[in-house]
Amino acid sequence: MGQEQVKLGVNLDHIATLRQARYTPYPDLVEAIRVSETSGANGITLHLREDRRHIQDDDIHVAREVIATHLNLEMAATSEMQNIALKVKPEYCCIVPERREELTTEGGLDVVAHRDRLSDLILALKSENILVSLFIEPNPLVIDMAADIGASIIEIHTGHYAAKHGLQQQHEYERIKNAAQHAQQLGLTVNAGHGLHVGNVKPIADIPGMNELNIGHAIVSDAIFVGLSAAIQNIRHAMDGA
Ligand code: PXP
Repeated sequence: MGQEQVKLGVNLDHIATLRQARYTPYPDLVEAIRVSETSGANGITLHLREDRRHIQDDDIHVAREVIATHLNLEMAATSEMQNIALKVKPEYCCIVPERREELTTEGGLDVVAHRDRLSDLILALKSENILVSLFIEPNPLVIDMAADIGASIIEIHTGHYAAKHGLQQQHEYERIKNAAQHAQQLGLTVNAGHGLHVGNVKPIADIPGMNELNIGHAIVSDAIFVGLSAAIQNIRHAMDGA
């Protein structure tokens, strides 16, 4: 018998990026959630950033109503986000570092520097049955601390693996694989994500015991070419009154 299929968490932030570029009602996030779930997403991830550059507060509330799988709310460890999470009650909260000028989440959390804050946040969210995942680098010491402060899940940052090639990528891969094993031995659930796409996802999905991969940018990017031809035909038909 093979191991259980790794879950796919679909991150839909960039549906909102496209919508916020024009402040139009489309592309519709609810429709994106529906299509994702009927196409095999095991969960939906939304990152409510402090700068609200893509997902908006209302999106989270609407998503909470319509998501049939699970909502994984990605957020920074601020009191504002804590209050929102306690109201919305997602199944999971993934805590990420945020820097205003960054293009996307650029690295894992500094669990050592923010130990007390993270520990308080985990306690508050757990009291409402929200499972907390910490987005961290594949570093055994950081994993030990994540377990120590009560995290149930870690999400291993795969961004460096995705950005490297050849032997350097192999080295990053070994770090992730060893970190996953170490975390599982401590009883943590192990997820991973960032920068994954059809060309690099398989080795990560093959890591024994991997629970869920969270993937966003590459799926939304791929969707353009899966759908561009049909979209052009749709507008042509509309122009022709067909
Ligand atoms: N996991 C975390 C914690 C993230 O911050 C992101 C990006 O929002 C992802 C996964 C998804 O990364 P990508 O969009 O590169 O697939």
